[in-house]
Amino acid sequence: MSAIRVHDLNYTYPDGTVALENISFEIEKGESVALIGPNGAGKSTLLLHLNGILHSARSRGAVKILGDTVNPKKVHEMSGKIGIVFQNPDDMLFMPLLSDDVAFGPINLGIEKEEVARRVMDSLGRVGLAGYENRVPHHLSSGEKKRAAIATVLSMEPEIIALDEPTANMDPKSRNDLIEILKNLKDEGKTLLIVTHDVNAIPELADRVIVLNKTIVADDTTRDVFADTEMLVAVGLDVPVIMQLFEVLQVFGYPCDVLPLSIGDAVRNLTETIENGKGHIHLHIHEHVHTAIGAVRSKYQHHHKDV
Ligand SMILES: Nc1ncnc2c1ncn2[C@@H]1O[C@H](COP(=O)(O)OP(=O)(O)OP(=O)(O)O)[C@@H](O)[C@H]1O
Ligand SMILES: [Mg+2]
Repeated sequence: MSAIRVHDLNYTYPDGTVALENISFEIEKGESVALIGPNGAGKSTLLLHLNGILHSARSRGAVKILGDTVNPKKVHEMSGKIGIVFQNPDDMLFMPLLSDDVAFGPINLGIEKEEVARRVMDSLGRVGLAGYENRVPHHLSSGEKKRAAIATVLSMEPEIIALDEPTANMDPKSRNDLIEILKNLKDEGKTLLIVTHDVNAIPELADRVIVLNKTIVADDTTRDVFADTEMLVAVGLDVPVIMQLFEVLQVFGYPCDVLPLSIGDAVRNLTETIENGKGHIHLHIHEHVHTAIGAVRSKYQHHHKDV
């Protein structure tokens, strides 16, 4: 049974804006998938369909979560199965104290008091907000709010977690901590769907990438999606910056069949190349280097492009 099964989903907002067209995909239990797409691509709209909250007469198609078809009447029931971290944390924080917000979900699921208290401490600790129990959610900083919103979902311990831009507004340490949190959830066997513009974080987090631009443009392994730079640039997206650097190195003659996606990949690749070169890397400047580098760089400059 799939964790998430979306079949021919279409959605039009009341003002006539067509947000989703013919969306079909399946995510197996334990998979970690990144959902990318330009602004206005329908990513948030799609997440809001996963627990049925936006499902209406203007939706066509079906969403099944762990085999169960969602609809607006089942949003509460679904919250124990799939947790959705909204793009705007203000939509998730409404209680006077942070501990109340984090306790809200599990209390509503009928979980006993002591277990709720344990989950509140555990969830806040996981997102680096231990000691923030009595803070006023409304007064938290933007990055703290985002982490608090994630804690309100973690406390329900759902099997599937969908996060809308989890690293947005985060300082570098918080971003790295969050990537660790997501990796740990993945290692614990949770199913993750991560909406992000943070392409550099994707290779660490997701084995598979879905590219959305109102409809699904690509759905493949992370490596294969990032290999299709033309498609990504055409929809206004980028590849990880480390890939771009190695494309430049290739122009200088660096031997590289498969571009590294992450720093870890790059270190392995360099080590191998230096070993093969008996301690050296051979690069050289030839006649066409500058033109070729110009071509690589302008590929990722998103202006003067006919899409
Ligand atoms: N309540 C609404 N009423 C009308 N149109 C809406 C509404 N919410 C979103 N839209 C439109 O639907 C489309 C998809 O929006 P959505 O928020 O899902 O995009 P997104 O991929 O999440 O973008 P971003 O990367 O900016 O978060 C956009 O054209 C947006 O303007
Ligand atoms: Mg969005």
